[in-house]
Amino acid sequence: MNNKKTKTNFVWGSRMDSSPSALVTKVNSSIKIDYELYKQDIMCSIVHSKMLAKQNIIKVDVSNKIIKGLRQIQKEIQKNKFKFSEINEDIHQNIEKRLFEIIGYEAGFLHIARSRNDQVTTDFKLWVIDASKNLIVEIKNLIKSILKLAEKNKNVIMPGFTHLKNAQPVLFSHHLLAYIEMFKRDYYKFINVIDNSSENPLGSAALAGTSFNIDRNFTSKYLGFKKATSNSIDAVSDRDYALEFLFVSSLCSMHLSRLAEEIIIWNSDIVNMIKINDNMLTGSSIMPQKKNPDSAELLRGKTGSIFGNLNTLLVTMKGLPLSYFKDMQEDKKPVFESYHTLILNLKIAKELIENISPNKKIMEELANDGYTTATDFADYLVKKGLSFRDAHVKSAKLVNIAEKKNISLDKLNFSEIKKIHPLAKEDALNILKIKNSVASKKSYGGTSYKNVVKMLKKLKKEFK
Ligand code: ARG
Repeated sequence: MNNKKTKTNFVWGSRMDSSPSALVTKVNSSIKIDYELYKQDIMCSIVHSKMLAKQNIIKVDVSNKIIKGLRQIQKEIQKNKFKFSEINEDIHQNIEKRLFEIIGYEAGFLHIARSRNDQVTTDFKLWVIDASKNLIVEIKNLIKSILKLAEKNKNVIMPGFTHLKNAQPVLFSHHLLAYIEMFKRDYYKFINVIDNSSENPLGSAALAGTSFNIDRNFTSKYLGFKKATSNSIDAVSDRDYALEFLFVSSLCSMHLSRLAEEIIIWNSDIVNMIKINDNMLTGSSIMPQKKNPDSAELLRGKTGSIFGNLNTLLVTMKGLPLSYFKDMQEDKKPVFESYHTLILNLKIAKELIENISPNKKIMEELANDGYTTATDFADYLVKKGLSFRDAHVKSAKLVNIAEKKNISLDKLNFSEIKKIHPLAKEDALNILKIKNSVASKKSYGGTSYKNVVKMLKKLKKEFK
């Protein structure tokens, strides 16, 4: 392979008197993690080789030979026939070594005008872009299944909570659409991650750029980047795109975790607002009667490692001077891990949503518990001319009466209501019913049936 004999088997070994120790080899090797970059690495090398030929830096037939060898390597990896070796450090060296085995001496022309420093960050950016695209698809699938559940249960009323205490009646569909708003933000944030990763570092070489007459617009175009990075030092030092990916993944996981938490609460025997189909549940090894929502609990539980991974990379990066340090090799594990966990979580969340159904009667009974239309009565008095603070006091009195009698507000009779304020007329009885309370929340974004139907229509169009 190399025309110069070296004492070690490494591409960088020419000046070394000995090979690295077994421990250094072990700690230095990242192939167990970064083999995931193989597709991006081969694509970058193919485009780089084409560019070198186009610029007359290498001969066209050398470039063609390199490309043919790289395509063979891709097939070998895809067919599980490629032998990754720790000795060859990382994905870049594993592929380059194999290229030497396949095409010989000419493999050595591929690394002209590039370094592993620009190579790795270009591969990694392309990987982050691909991963974001996959996540966008899964978020959309989840949104669509939430929309279906909301559509199917448009009219079901549930207690809306603050502090986990019954607050005001809302539509179950409105509550579900709240999650769509969150996942919609995640969806557009991942689109932004792609957009923010659109500058091509390839050609920055080790850190200073290169003296060869390379065409960075060519490689940018064929790798799918919008343009080339503007500063070679920043280009090899920057991992913002990976951090942004981890942050948006964390945010999306946090939303999934909140959804999981609600599903767990709704499914608990004390609340019993939803039924979860058995295919989403697991049993207990000791208690024969148990059906546990483990899938939702794991959705919540796995969020921890996703948050941790964001912190891991932030801490890895925070003390690094410019430009490349081997610390940065530790950047891939947290990103790959978060991606694989999040994509699984999104799929599980979708399956969970497809396998829950509201216990409508219990939801509506609970929605009427805890004097949830007291605010509606206060609003009613305001519309008769009282100040809100005054109406608040009067409505609290009405709640006291109902509480003493141990009945819900809608079971009070007119004589009791009249005593609260002479301006209260018989129509106040209607105000205390949960259905009317929901229907009255017509302000934009409120829970009225009409609003929700409109919103459902709009969202269905947006996420066809
Ligand atoms: N495997 C390395 C990484 O993931 C890239 C190699 C750069 N190595 C170097 N010694 N400059 O960061």
